[in-house]
Amino acid sequence: MVECDDGRILVTGALGQIGTDLVQSLREIYGSEMVIASDIREKPGHPCIINGQYTNLDVLDKDRISKIIRDFNIKIIYHLAAILSARGEENPDLCELINVEGTRNIFDAAREFDLRVFAPSSIAVFGPDAPKKAPQLTPLNPTTKYGMTKVDCEILGMIYFEKYGVDIRGIRYPGLISWKSPVSGGTTDYAVDIFHAALSDESKYECFLSAETRLPMMYMDDAIRATISLMDAPINSLSSARCGYNISGLSFTPKELVFEINKKLPDFICEYNPDIRQKYANSWPDSIDDEFSRNDWGWKPEFDLETIVNEMITNLKKS
Ligand SMILES: NC(=O)c1ccc[n+]([C@@H]2O[C@H](COP(=O)([O-])OP(=O)(O)OC[C@H]3O[C@@H](n4cnc5c(N)ncnc54)[C@H](O)[C@@H]3O)[C@@H](O)[C@H]2O)c1
Repeated sequence: MVECDDGRILVTGALGQIGTDLVQSLREIYGSEMVIASDIREKPGHPCIINGQYTNLDVLDKDRISKIIRDFNIKIIYHLAAILSARGEENPDLCELINVEGTRNIFDAAREFDLRVFAPSSIAVFGPDAPKKAPQLTPLNPTTKYGMTKVDCEILGMIYFEKYGVDIRGIRYPGLISWKSPVSGGTTDYAVDIFHAALSDESKYECFLSAETRLPMMYMDDAIRATISLMDAPINSLSSARCGYNISGLSFTPKELVFEINKKLPDFICEYNPDIRQKYANSWPDSIDDEFSRNDWGWKPEFDLETIVNEMITNLKKS
């Protein structure tokens, strides 16, 4: 387990999809008072705000980053603040600013205050020229602005590690499926929205990707376990993949997901009406080779499609 007796953990972008789950897990492990959640927005009643310390932070504000690190004695940052793929393509300048400059600000602070940083990457780093089962080491030629910002941040992370010794770690997350937080702005959002639609009175969903679009996906519990395992791993066990480890969970198409949901909810109907997000999905791999993560820090996924569907339906019915 990461030692943080001598300092606290800061999570940026904590009110988003991953932050909602990650902050809860970190608080369960280290204690509520050890984990400071932050975001640019306010969301009254959000669990990250009511179950521990919360502070406003725009990651473009360098002075405020430094003040928070000093005031709360921060030693580790999980840097989740970002603009995701679909929203990023609508506003590429904002995507570049928040994803790259925001991350540079966090890395600069980590260098100044000697912090460990988790900065997530994405399968969006791969472009159409990558093999459909994407290996760790392959040319990274993304066609989306979002993917380009993620490649930039992986490179930036390696520079700060090699030149200044800053301990930066990252994972290329696939599409993440979770029930605690709504999703918006990503190309894999359909795999969460579909459950909300299936459980609605109408039990009908219009999918923005085609029925046969196969993409790498993962249940949030696996993603959180991967994130904390990577941050816990001894520094000398990590390889040149340290800022963008491939991790694999499972791969499925919307049609396969609907088939599995129909086993539980036979009246659910899905129609397909691909939009611009189909183009982004087409440029990504359909599965991931995660040999480096398995060898370097013992990664192994636990959730298959049937279990994910059961978990999503059971938990959403209760919430
Ligand atoms: N969710 C996924 O499926 C997925 C897949 C691959 C990679 N990732 C990466 O994981 C990270 C977190 O993703 P997420 O799904 O939780 O995203 P999200 O969009 O749900 O949350 C991002 C959060 O960042 C906040 N934010 C935006 N601008 C900010 C700023 N200037 N300062 C501070 N906060 C700001 C937003 O308010 C939001 O709460 C991102 O780097 C994303 O690229 C996510």
